[in-house]
Amino acid sequence: MFKQLQEKWNVSAGRALLILMIFAIGGSLTGIIGKQIMSWIGISSTLFYIPVYIVTITLVWPFMVLLVSIPFGQFYFFKNYILKMGRRMRIVPVEKQQDIPAPQSQAIDAHASQSFQVKHITIFASGAGSNAHQIIQYFRNSTEVNVALIVCNKPGAGVIDIAAKENIPVLLTEKERFFRGDGYVPELQASNTNLIVLAGFLWKIPQTILNAYPRQIINIHPALLPKYGGKGMYGSYVHQSVLSSGEMESGITIHYVDEHYDNGDVIFQTACPVLEGDTVEKLAQRIHQLEHLHYPRVIEEVLKKR
Ligand code: GAR
Repeated sequence: MFKQLQEKWNVSAGRALLILMIFAIGGSLTGIIGKQIMSWIGISSTLFYIPVYIVTITLVWPFMVLLVSIPFGQFYFFKNYILKMGRRMRIVPVEKQQDIPAPQSQAIDAHASQSFQVKHITIFASGAGSNAHQIIQYFRNSTEVNVALIVCNKPGAGVIDIAAKENIPVLLTEKERFFRGDGYVPELQASNTNLIVLAGFLWKIPQTILNAYPRQIINIHPALLPKYGGKGMYGSYVHQSVLSSGEMESGITIHYVDEHYDNGDVIFQTACPVLEGDTVEKLAQRIHQLEHLHYPRVIEEVLKKR
C-alpha cells in the first residue's frame, strides 16, 4: 500500500511519509475547526447536524492541508493534488484548447485549432545542445508535439544559439530562484509544458519542479545506469570512468527524474561496444550517435502513452 502510494506520487519513501503526516495533521485540524464552526452555527437537531458537518469539513480540509504543507515545503504537491481532485469532481474546470497560446512552429499553428492533442515539451540543457537540436529537428513538422521552450543555466551555451536559430524562446535560469525560489514553475506552466526533457542539463532538478511535474520529467544519461551515474558524473567524466574501468561496453539510459541524481525508473537503455584504442572523444561520439538516434523517438513514445 505504502509502496503503491510512493509510486503513484513518484516520491521517495521519506517524502511519502512526510506527505502522509501532512494529510494526518491537516485532517485532525479540519476535525477541530469543523467542530468549532458547528458550535458557532449552533445546530441542535442531529438530522441537520451530520450533513452540515460533512459539508463544513469538506470545505475546510483543502485549506488546512495547504496551510500545513507550507512549513514542510510540500505546497506544490498539495496544490496539484487538490486541483486534480477538484477536476475529478468537476468543481475545477479542465484546461480548454483556447487556453493554449499560439505555439511557435508554423506546422503547429496550422493545426492547433483542430487538435486537442498538441503536447508541449520544454528542453533543459546546459551545453552544446546537440541532443536539443536533434529533438527540435525531429518534431519540426509534427502536428502533435511542439518544442515550446528551452531552459538553460549557462549564458553562452551552444544550445542558446540553436534556440535562437530555431526561433524557440529561451529561459535563462539563475541559481537562487531555481533552487530556493519557485523553480521557474510559473514560466513552465505559462508555456503549457507537458513534458520536461533534460538534454545535458547539469543542475539537479529541485523539489519545486518535481512536485509541479510528477513523472513528467525525463533525462538522458551517457552510460548504462546504475553504473557510472550520480553526482559529478556527466559528459566526459562518465566516458573517462568507463574507459578507466576497462568496460567492454557502454551505452545510454533514458529515465524518469526523481530527487536523486540519475536514479528514476528506466524507460530505455541500449548498449554499444567500447573498442580497443578508444579515447574519451571517440566513445563520446559513439554515445552521441546513439542518443541522437533514440532520444527523440523515446520522447515521442512517452508522450503517446500519456
Ligand atoms: C549528453 O551526452 C548527455 O547524455 C549528457 O550530456 C551530454 C550533452 O550533450 N548528460 C549527462 O551527462 C547527464 N548526467 P549535448 O549538449 O550535445 O546534447
